Amino acid sequence: MTTTTGTPVEATGPDEEPHPQEAPRGAGAPRPGDPFDQDDLPTSPGATGALLRSLLAPHRRGVWLTVVALLLQQGAVQSGPLLVAYAIDSAVPAFRDHAYGPLVAVGIGFLLTACLSAVFQYAYIRLSARVSQDVLLDLRGRIFRQAQALSVDFHDRYTSGRVISRATTDVESLRELLSEGLQELVNVILASLYITVMLLWLDLGIGSVAAASFVPLYVLIRLYRQRAARAYEERSSAIAAVIVKFVETMNGIRPVRAFRREQANDADFGRLNHRHERSNGTAMLEMARYVVGSRVLANTAVAGMVLWGAYRVAGGTLALGVLAAAVLFVRRLYDPIDRLAMFLNAYESAAASLKKIAGLLEQVPSVPEPAQPRELPERTAAVRDPGGELPGRDVEFRDVSFGYRTGGEVLPRFDLRLPAGQTVAVVGSTGAGKSTLAKLLARFYDPSHGQVLLDGVDLRELSTAALRRGVVMVTQEAFLFSGTVAENIAIGRPESSREEIERAAKAIGAHDFIAALPDGYDTDVRKRGGRISAGQRQLVAFARALLADPAVLILDEATSSLDIPGERAVQRAMRTVLHGRTAVVIAHRLSTVEIADRVLVMEHGAIVEDGAPAELIDGSGVFAELHRAWRDSVD
Ligand SMILES: Nc1ncnc2c1ncn2[C@@H]1O[C@H](COP(=O)(O)OP(=O)(O)OP(=O)(O)O)[C@@H](O)[C@H]1O
Ligand SMILES: [Mg+2]
Repeated sequence: MTTTTGTPVEATGPDEEPHPQEAPRGAGAPRPGDPFDQDDLPTSPGATGALLRSLLAPHRRGVWLTVVALLLQQGAVQSGPLLVAYAIDSAVPAFRDHAYGPLVAVGIGFLLTACLSAVFQYAYIRLSARVSQDVLLDLRGRIFRQAQALSVDFHDRYTSGRVISRATTDVESLRELLSEGLQELVNVILASLYITVMLLWLDLGIGSVAAASFVPLYVLIRLYRQRAARAYEERSSAIAAVIVKFVETMNGIRPVRAFRREQANDADFGRLNHRHERSNGTAMLEMARYVVGSRVLANTAVAGMVLWGAYRVAGGTLALGVLAAAVLFVRRLYDPIDRLAMFLNAYESAAASLKKIAGLLEQVPSVPEPAQPRELPERTAAVRDPGGELPGRDVEFRDVSFGYRTGGEVLPRFDLRLPAGQTVAVVGSTGAGKSTLAKLLARFYDPSHGQVLLDGVDLRELSTAALRRGVVMVTQEAFLFSGTVAENIAIGRPESSREEIERAAKAIGAHDFIAALPDGYDTDVRKRGGRISAGQRQLVAFARALLADPAVLILDEATSSLDIPGERAVQRAMRTVLHGRTAVVIAHRLSTVEIADRVLVMEHGAIVEDGAPAELIDGSGVFAELHRAWRDSVD
């Protein structure tokens, strides 16, 4: 379905449909119990792991090659101490006896391992970069597709700021893990394993001391992870709240200026910013504690080993070279464990982010695409009007009731039939449910009960393409996408020729102002000179709808920004635009009603009057009253 909803006033930012119940949000105090306000969508257990696996699945070969490259690189690096042991215990004594071979071999060995380690490091960086870039590309794409696929009611509550946060800061923390953290982890595991084996092989006693020191280290890591996980989740929520506030303020920069909200906003933003700072501080503190703990452990272990080793060297039960190699190894052992903090840091941060992303990706659209989509039936010649044009399609609300997720029932049960080709005006007081009725017909939402049918086919069963051709809704906030005016008009039918675009613009009286723009139809609407007024935007939205040529056209306050001559012009055009289709026109200005075949009056979600305009005006109901008041005001 093509729609032209969007930001109020000027089309500058992402779409955040203004909503009466959604007033200032993100101001700091989340309502307990509402998962949306706490930024955490319910995530099923194991969803994060499943997401990670599904991301890595297409790169199995790449992941293995990366691990192999790292293994080889570590092998090359870790052979250093062995060469030292060999040099001290064999090569140097041999050198004394004028046998130069062994020492030269040690030199060449050093050179070789250095070269090999560089080559494998290079291979590792290349391979891992490719995998992680692909994974991130995939993930960002999934977030975008999911955000687009999720229904309007999801966006009503989740807000675009949070989606942006998921796609930026959360993806970024995964990037950090993949690009830096992962290498650290593999390095640490490999190095510790390798070194422990080497130590055990060199000397069982000293090796056992090193291995035993892993137990308290393991406990320390577990403690750190538990605490850090909480801190990072809070940090991810906090940064999302900061972005939400940012997006909301920038989207509403005009009302912010108009109501001098700057100071209040500053204070709100400061609070959110502080919350982020605090959570960041907690995370850093946990990290600092871990680093200190692991250092103390490491140095205690090294000191123990050196003392015990020296004692044994003195007693003659340990060769000096072995002790030297062991000390070198042990130092190397704790060096990566220190760096493990970096990995754990990146890991916890990424895990918290991934959990939030997984929660978003797990959401199921409340307005899902049909499993077995149906097409609309072909209209037979018999039902064509005399002019041979397609007279729109039959619309039926059958035993429909509806309420938004966040509120009570808005539309109590009702039945309504709009025969093909009819132009129906819907009037009624603010909040009566007119837009809600229109949104059900455009399938922004599915009814809580009953069916909305187009030529007898439930909207829920219609294929996306059939729905797009079938129903188009033009709203008050005519949204323009970045691009040229022509592209904006052609959105509902991108294959249109320039001639068709201009014809549509002429038909609704938009051609003159477009032609007067700096580059005419090729004017970029976001660039200087491309700025067009709210009324002009509505004209563009009209042209867009006309070109999309739907069977059912819904106009929700679509002429509200036009001046009287502009509206008159559009009304004249409307006869052409609405001819040959079913039309639902919602308008507060009753002048629009003149072109209608039928008027529906809504109060509190119910249709209280239904009839031809003349009939209702002559009666004594709500519409007659409204019409009299309106006549008096224009006379
Ligand atoms: N997204 C939403 N979530 C929750 N409640 C909503 C939502 N949109 C509208 N409502 C509520 O539904 C009721 C009907 O709203 P609706 O927008 O249909 O009124 P309307 O007749 O179009 O009013 P107006 O003439 O002001 O446009 C109102 O009480 C409104 O608060
Ligand atoms: Mg409305």
